[in-house]
Amino acid sequence: MKRSVMSVIAALLVGTAWVSAGQNVEIAEETLGLSKVSVDADTGLVEKPYSYKGTAPGAGNKRIPRAYDNAPPMIPHDINELPIITQEENTCTSCHMPDVASSVGAIPIPKTHLTNLRKMEDLKGQLYQGRWNCTQCHAPQAELDPAVMNKFKGAYRKKIGGEYKTNLIKTLREGVVEDKSGSFDLNKDLLEE
Ligand code: HEC
Ligand code: HEC
Repeated sequence: MKRSVMSVIAALLVGTAWVSAGQNVEIAEETLGLSKVSVDADTGLVEKPYSYKGTAPGAGNKRIPRAYDNAPPMIPHDINELPIITQEENTCTSCHMPDVASSVGAIPIPKTHLTNLRKMEDLKGQLYQGRWNCTQCHAPQAELDPAVMNKFKGAYRKKIGGEYKTNLIKTLREGVVEDKSGSFDLNKDLLEE
């Protein structure tokens, strides 16, 4: 009995020593990254200047093919001169809202953006405010000369209309077991067929 109490105390002491030793262990920053140098080391890399594809919007910039069905199209025109997008002020909408788009030759904002998809509520031409920050999904494309080329090839089904078309509002539930009630409540258990 006495022996086992002693061994418990001994184990506790060893444990404490181990914990306090652990607290002092420093991880060398050279071991943190993939390259075994200090994380503060200046590797001498200089970002080369680059520019974005395209000129002013509407100057006939070629549209960029999408990567896959209903992927957000990338921005083919220059957006450098445009003010920063805020929820209150957004120059993108001044050309892309459906009521003005055709007059400036822009592609109109699609129906998915004018719908509250959480409630499947048609916002009657108003932009859903979960989408105000356009460049969160649509980005301008830099022109670069990378050391290794990206070999990714886009893939899309012809029935959608190809790499420049959108039909997402019609295919949102594609592949989902149909809820007979027609409800769009994703928290609700979907009934098996
Ligand atoms: C002065 C009007 C104008 C403004 C402002 C503008 N665009 Fe455009 N946008 C166009 C036109 C016109 C096109 C067609 C390509 C072209 O001719 O430049 C286009 C094309 C696009 C496309 C390609 C769509 C597709 O299906 O290929 C996207 C995406 C886009 N714009 C997003 C934006 C975003 C995001 C902003 C704000 C940062 C913006 N645009 C501001 C006029 C405008
Ligand atoms: C959360 C991501 C997201 C945000 C934010 C967003 N979009 Fe989109 N956008 C998409 C996706 C995905 C598509 C393609 C599928 C679809 O139609 O919804 C698209 C399609 C488009 C198209 C092409 C329509 C067509 O018929 O080819 C335009 C133009 C566009 N968006 C403009 C905008 C503008 C302007 C804003 C800001 C007011 C914006 N988007 C905000 C994801 C987004």
